[in-house]
Amino acid sequence: MENLASDIRSLFPALSSTVYGRPLVYLDNAATSQRPAKVIELQALLSEKENANVHRAVHKLSQDATDRYEAGRRAVERFLNVDSETGCVVFTSGATAAFNLLANCFSARYLHKGDQILISQAEHHSNIVPWQLACERVGAELVVVPVEADGTLSVAEVEKRLNGRVKLVSIAQITNVLGVINPVREIIAAAHAKGIPVAVDGAQGIVHADSDVQALDCDFYIFSGHKIYAPTGTGILYGKRCFLDEMPPYMGGGDMVDTVSFEKTTYNALPLKYEAGTPNFTGQACFVPALELAESLRNNQEVKAQERALVRYLAEELPRIDGLHLWGLPANLETKIPLFSLTVEGTHPSDLAQILDKLGIAVRSGWMCAEPLVRRFSDRGMLRASLLPYNTLSEAEAFVAGLKRAVKMLK
Ligand code: ALA
Repeated sequence: MENLASDIRSLFPALSSTVYGRPLVYLDNAATSQRPAKVIELQALLSEKENANVHRAVHKLSQDATDRYEAGRRAVERFLNVDSETGCVVFTSGATAAFNLLANCFSARYLHKGDQILISQAEHHSNIVPWQLACERVGAELVVVPVEADGTLSVAEVEKRLNGRVKLVSIAQITNVLGVINPVREIIAAAHAKGIPVAVDGAQGIVHADSDVQALDCDFYIFSGHKIYAPTGTGILYGKRCFLDEMPPYMGGGDMVDTVSFEKTTYNALPLKYEAGTPNFTGQACFVPALELAESLRNNQEVKAQERALVRYLAEELPRIDGLHLWGLPANLETKIPLFSLTVEGTHPSDLAQILDKLGIAVRSGWMCAEPLVRRFSDRGMLRASLLPYNTLSEAEAFVAGLKRAVKMLK
């Protein structure tokens, strides 16, 4: 198991760094993953030799840049198993931009006064605030499904709230705070039985769960590239064409238009209708190497076994620390990814994180852009360790040992 993680680590230059003279133990992957050399090299090549704007010019450099950009889109389509007849991949600058696009355009077309949008308590701010803004604009209501004490989401609690006023369910596949895999398939089936479309926040799910949009039958699927080995400033809004065709454009500008006149402007076909302005063509092209790697990891049974072993180890060892509370620990550990958020009585999560940092261990602390969910369990924030296939058991052990040391220093 250790050898497998070491082989994967060797693909990521940043993982051999030192921090304060100690080897870096990077456990903040839910915030952003490190990038493999192949992604870094492609970014450099595109910047050095193939930099030209896409979809605009007839010259060779622009054609090549366009091909790279569209190859990035094909890579995403393959990874999500998109049927391009019925679904479409729109490039955005990240999951936040995708949610804002969706909330704006979906509400403009489908949301009216008195309607409801249904989300859960386990949502990232990106899947809360854009809907609050949209609901305020039209006089609709945001309805929230509570999470259970173990961090899971009850399908029955969702079903109870599916009524004729709900126009969309928007739900995280995996919470970025608790690392619990939500029953999105069941939620989608229940919503569809009532004719209600579902958007899935795949920001964490894209790395750890099933992202086959045809199998899920979700109506929208959103994720950021930087959490799955691609550069920052890259993101995806997948949507069924029946919705994307009907919704109005989001931003206006170049590339999203067909013809422009002062009397009447007509819009480009999907997906360009939603891609106004010069896109992050360098970043989006890097989905090719990033998802090639993600695909090989996703299909590797040894990687899966290693992930399960890390979950078991941390679920067993962390609660042994005096005063430590793990949040989001379902009885069935198969529904938990290697992402652990915790508090320790008598200590503040940020103090613990600062001591861990001095030991070379990078973790996140605070509200984790999901304040309502964190407050459900803690009024001081939490400390979170999130692992990817390049994290070794020795690193998990170093985290547990470092945490014990930090707790001892603070108590
Ligand atoms: N959403 C990211 C996180 O959970 C930034 O840390």
